[in-house]
Amino acid sequence: MNVPHIEPIPNPLQHQRDFAPSAALDAEVNELLTHYPEKRAASLMVLHAIQDQFGWISQEAVEWTAKKLELEPINVYELVTFYPMLRQQPMGKYQIKVCRTLSCALGGAYALREHFCNKLGLDAHAHGPQTTKDGKFTVEFVECLASCGTPPVMMCNDDFYENVSHKKADEIIGGCR
Ligand code: FES
Repeated sequence: MNVPHIEPIPNPLQHQRDFAPSAALDAEVNELLTHYPEKRAASLMVLHAIQDQFGWISQEAVEWTAKKLELEPINVYELVTFYPMLRQQPMGKYQIKVCRTLSCALGGAYALREHFCNKLGLDAHAHGPQTTKDGKFTVEFVECLASCGTPPVMMCNDDFYENVSHKKADEIIGGCR
């Protein structure tokens, strides 16, 4: 019987050769583990702690976490690739998130994202988060930001904006420079 050849799924995680958790992070993780009956139950909290320090989760971070939690890397990898709030690549200093759910999609979200991309020299037609070469801005679509009556809606880091015109978008970028 011929066994069909199945292509392996590519690992989307990037490498971070200089990944070195600080003593404070190590202590924080050790402390977190004391709150759970099983180390595995702390997985998401540990990943959030790592992301707070580094801004994203690398292959090396996955391996370190797996060792800490006495798991296989695949057990951590599946979380990182499942939860969109866990970042698989370095993010810009300013993270621009444009809502693309129905109300905002109808209210100009696609044109708004394209405007940001054009202004920042990013490919407006590429999928997923895109970061400027200087590491300053990341632009991405997100799902509903819970203000569906005032589209298009977006966030820049923790700041929330509604009814965002292209002129307003330019002001937001200008305020980040
Ligand atoms: S659809 Fe954009 S905030 Fe809800």
